[in-house]
Amino acid sequence: MPLSDCRLISLPKVQRPQGNLTALHGGAEIPFRIERVYWLYDVPAGVYRGAHSHRTVETVLIAAMGGFTVTLSYGEDRARFTLRRPDVGLYVPPLVWRELDDFTSGSVCLVLASERYDEAEYIRDFGEFMSQTRKPFVPSQPA
Ligand code: TYD
Repeated sequence: MPLSDCRLISLPKVQRPQGNLTALHGGAEIPFRIERVYWLYDVPAGVYRGAHSHRTVETVLIAAMGGFTVTLSYGEDRARFTLRRPDVGLYVPPLVWRELDDFTSGSVCLVLASERYDEAEYIRDFGEFMSQTRKPFVPSQPA
């Protein structure tokens, strides 16, 4: 079940008196090969982002700066996560619907993705998403 695969990942932190550093590797701390990195910033107060799911892309979301709330759903099931630490990632597998809101001022949402951007791979229509969740879920087999 995709929603139960969603999880917080504790990321390594190198602590120095001069400040902290977190380094990530695809296939290690991040459970997929990283093909794309993007970040959301200058997000105006009160807006929400997301409102889609992905057919195949896996992602990890990180509050690199500030914080925001992520609401995940699959069918009738929902899970809510508040991210506000740069050393914690939220793993979101394919098919899970995501909505991001409550961005704090100046926040940065860093996203690691398993594939390059392809609009055809998005499910943006909530009705289509709900009909997908009624099909039996078949996990993809490792290559
Ligand atoms: P979208 O994924 O809808 O953003 P969010 O879910 O955060 O609200 O993308 C917003 C726009 O940016 C859309 O026109 C597609 C474009 N975009 C890219 O060109 N490349 C990317 O890697 C991503 C994620 C989006």
